This record gives sequence, structure tokens and C-alpha cells, in this order.
Amino acid sequence: MAKKLNQLAEAELFDYSELSAGEKALVDVAIATVDNAYAPYSNFHVGAAVLLANGEVVKGSNQENAAYPSGLCAERVAIFSAGANFPKEAVEMIAIAARPKGATDFVKASSCGNCRQAMMEYESKQEQPIQLLFVRPNNEVMKTTVGDLLPFGFDSNSLRGNS
Ligand code: THU
Repeated sequence: MAKKLNQLAEAELFDYSELSAGEKALVDVAIATVDNAYAPYSNFHVGAAVLLANGEVVKGSNQENAAYPSGLCAERVAIFSAGANFPKEAVEMIAIAARPKGATDFVKASSCGNCRQAMMEYESKQEQPIQLLFVRPNNEVMKTTVGDLLPFGFDSNSLRGNS
């Protein structure tokens, strides 16, 4: 008889007005960063804001390249920059916002698989969950964690055979 091994993902949807002051501030930075995107090929602009334990906020936006795979998503630009500049600071929260160039409202985007994997590395490094805030249309914000976005993920524990 097969045994079920479920890892269920959870997320909550809030109105922006229901967020804490700190969450709002981080969402505001992600939104302000969206149009820093260099995205002449997709015209899809993404902004990410990483809140570190020391209160520092590190911004990132997607950076594309004529050789398409050489570009990088906003989440990885931001979290790699945080890791490079503040290697000892835990990542507490990441806010992400995305919209096509010229649009006023945001789209229901989530993070791509590569970004989920990259963010999971930091969650596993710091042994502490990373909260994610995804800006959605009509002033809504989806709150979840990296672990929720990547069930059955591969991390450093997997290399030791105890994931
Ligand atoms: N993109 C991000 O910045 N984050 C994601 O998680 C998904 C996609 C970017 C990559 C590319 O520059 C553009 O959005 C279209 O895929």
C-alpha cells in the first residue's frame, strides 16, 4: 500500500492595507524598483526587495541580455547581491512585484523555478524561513514562504541524504 508523502503549499492573500508597517515598506520598495528593470526583450518588468536581519533592504530588478539565457531574474539579482554584500545577515523577507512595461497595475506573477531554488539555498543556509510577499492586482498581496513555493526541494541536506 503506497504511503502518501504530501508537502502542501500554503499562501495567504491580504489587502495591502492589512499588512504591517514593515511589510508595506518592503512592498513599496519592490514596487519602486520594478521600472529599474532592463528588459528590452520581454518588456516584462520585475522588482524585488530583500529585507535583511540588520534592517538593510537590498533591491533587484530583472536584467536581460541579447544572449537571452545570460540575463537574470529580479529575485536572483537581489538575493545574490544581498549574499555578496551582507554574507552574515539572514534574509527575513522578500517582496516581489511584476508588470508589463507601461502597465499601471501588477500581474499575478510568481517566482520561476530557478529563483525558487536560489532562494531556498539561503533559507537552508540560515535555517530560518524566508517570507515572500507577492504583489498582485487590485492592491492585493500574497504572503507565503520559499519552502511553500518549492516542496520536495533540493538543498544542502539532500547532498547528505537527509532531506
Ligand atoms: N522574471 C523575473 O525577474 N522573475 C521571475 O521569477 C520570473 C521572470 C523576468 C525574467 C525575464 O527578464 C522576464 O521576467 C520575462 O521572463
